[in-house]
Amino acid sequence: MPRKVNYGLDYDDGYDGYDDYDDFDDYEDYANANDYGVKEKVTEKPSWNDRSTIKVEKKTKKLALWQCSVCNSDNEQSSSSCDICGVLRDPAQNIGNGSAENAPFQFNTLSPDDMVSVGKMSSRKSSKVSANNTGKKAIAKFTATNEMAENSSGIISGANQLNGSESGNANIKSDTPQILASDLHQMKLDKVSTNFRKAKPLAEYKPEKWMLANQDGILNQLNLAVVGHVDSGKSTLSGQLLHLLGRVSKKEMHKFEKEAKEKGKGSFAFAWATDESAEERERGVTMTVAVAYFDSKKYRVVLLDSPGHKDFVPNMISGATQADAAVLVVDASIGSFEAGMDGNGFGQTKEHAQLIRSFGVEQVIVAVNKMDTVGFSKERFEFIKSQLGNFLRSCGFKESQVTWIPLSAMENENLVTSATDARLSSWYEGSCLLEAVDSLQLPVRDASKPLLLPICDVIKSHSLGQVAACGKIETGAIKNGSRVLVMPLREVATVRSIERDSCPCSVARAGDNVAVSLQGIDGVHVTPGGVLCHPDYPVTVASRLELKILVLDIMGPIIVGSKFEFHIHHAKEAARLVKIVSLVDQKTGKAAKKTPRFLTAKQSAIIEVALDRAVCAEEFSKHRALGRAFLRASGCTVGVGIVSKVFSDES
Ligand code: GTP
Ligand code: MG
Repeated sequence: MPRKVNYGLDYDDGYDGYDDYDDFDDYEDYANANDYGVKEKVTEKPSWNDRSTIKVEKKTKKLALWQCSVCNSDNEQSSSSCDICGVLRDPAQNIGNGSAENAPFQFNTLSPDDMVSVGKMSSRKSSKVSANNTGKKAIAKFTATNEMAENSSGIISGANQLNGSESGNANIKSDTPQILASDLHQMKLDKVSTNFRKAKPLAEYKPEKWMLANQDGILNQLNLAVVGHVDSGKSTLSGQLLHLLGRVSKKEMHKFEKEAKEKGKGSFAFAWATDESAEERERGVTMTVAVAYFDSKKYRVVLLDSPGHKDFVPNMISGATQADAAVLVVDASIGSFEAGMDGNGFGQTKEHAQLIRSFGVEQVIVAVNKMDTVGFSKERFEFIKSQLGNFLRSCGFKESQVTWIPLSAMENENLVTSATDARLSSWYEGSCLLEAVDSLQLPVRDASKPLLLPICDVIKSHSLGQVAACGKIETGAIKNGSRVLVMPLREVATVRSIERDSCPCSVARAGDNVAVSLQGIDGVHVTPGGVLCHPDYPVTVASRLELKILVLDIMGPIIVGSKFEFHIHHAKEAARLVKIVSLVDQKTGKAAKKTPRFLTAKQSAIIEVALDRAVCAEEFSKHRALGRAFLRASGCTVGVGIVSKVFSDES
């Protein structure tokens, strides 16, 4: 996912600071409550290196509303689909040239506005090509981007958001109805695609030699998610690290400082290295995951700076689900640490820790940040360590896998070298952050299994018909020329080129975070939430799943019929609880009470959910990364768990 990623924003109009939280509804309102007062419109994809990010423009809506039949949010009369969940207002209405008759409910499909943004995204290769083909404005944009890429080696270009955006929008908007119609048409074909070969038994799979070969001299990629409560200093930490390691030049830093000061946001200068959209900078809040690279002694680190605000947890999930390890950033200042630990859904220190553990992340570095605000007090550090340590243990983190580091991102204490401030060095003798990163262990990579690459993001150039799928290869390997099956739409494509760390490469293996350019496929068939796989070993597609979940700290009961946002790898889908099979005894892991009437906080249970549209999913026992699921409702995570049974749509 080598760029900024937007994933179904749902922030509240009233948000204007980190301590201005929304009221939570009682659980019985989960399915119905929706207090969104903002319409998000994706207008632009600024770039990361030479790829793109999304600029979000908010419009307050007040008049003439219609209510979504699925998520109950209010929408403007002019909207043909729900701004929040994407469901069509009237599935039978005609849009553009195509008929949407009988089109299935779409939750995770691109809206017309998304289509605009997708159309504006471009990989380095396609950028250059389209620059040659689309005239001066495009060249200005892509030239700016490429210059930035050279200067900043992997840092988002701030300047490149503007150039060429208008021209890009104009071009792409004219394509929109056609694209949407084609997308709807494809959705109708969803279940009847004939392009599908029957899966071979896994035992028959034999990896080829090139798939397993070692890459001499190339540092292994370590996907490191930076997570934590809003305003804990994740972006400042990321920006400072990148600056200290030479990935953000002095000149750029100076520019960020100057511009941030002019905007009255002087303290956010380091954060501007990763918070690059105008809205993120103006609000001082990260909204989408930013990806940057730096080299430690042992690793080529893929840094995933996640948003902390609770309204952007879906974005955080989309990025951090690729993590091999995480840095959990905690704000040490009085009151702020406590806010992050609030158990009522407001504390993202807890929610993020729970989520990353459920992603399968076992190693975590707890960066106790802003130690300068508490005079580098050992007592405060120990207090935080004991409070949060208890919670991390309860999430299943082993003590030996958790490293605690007191630091100050702003004052550069304990980041890449040992602490210099006597108030800290007098009592702390452990490693600095960079050393702690180097002591992380690389998870086992399985290149010997068939290819599985969950698609985090899609880069499309509609004018050139080029499409690239971005994400982390979970198992297997690909090379230029490989044939891949694009699920869930079951279309076969050929790998045209691969980029790792924004550089072209001919082979990529399990663990690599890549952008795979595809040929021989219509772009509408490649969607975030889909999966690239080996044509003979397709991933299972299902709209009904059995899950073993742990119910988090919720306020009321979960009953049959409750609606959720269902998350699995990068897919998000509307879901309904159709059956509570049994409670699970947390000590033995065995089924306890059969068919209870409801679930309450902290219970484990086996449940069945029905999804509005099928997703790629595997049983956790067969494939971990494709078998972890999360349930969210009313803006907070209500359950985390694993897929215990897949009721395949093919069977
Ligand atoms: P979100 O991405 O929106 O969740 O925020 P964040 O966690 O990325 O926080 P960000 O880096 O944007 O910083 C938030 C505020 O904390 C800014 O005003 C920073 O200057 C401040 N800050 C970050 N690190 C430190 C630190 O070490 N010391 C002090 N005093 N302030 C810090
Ligand atoms: Mg941030």
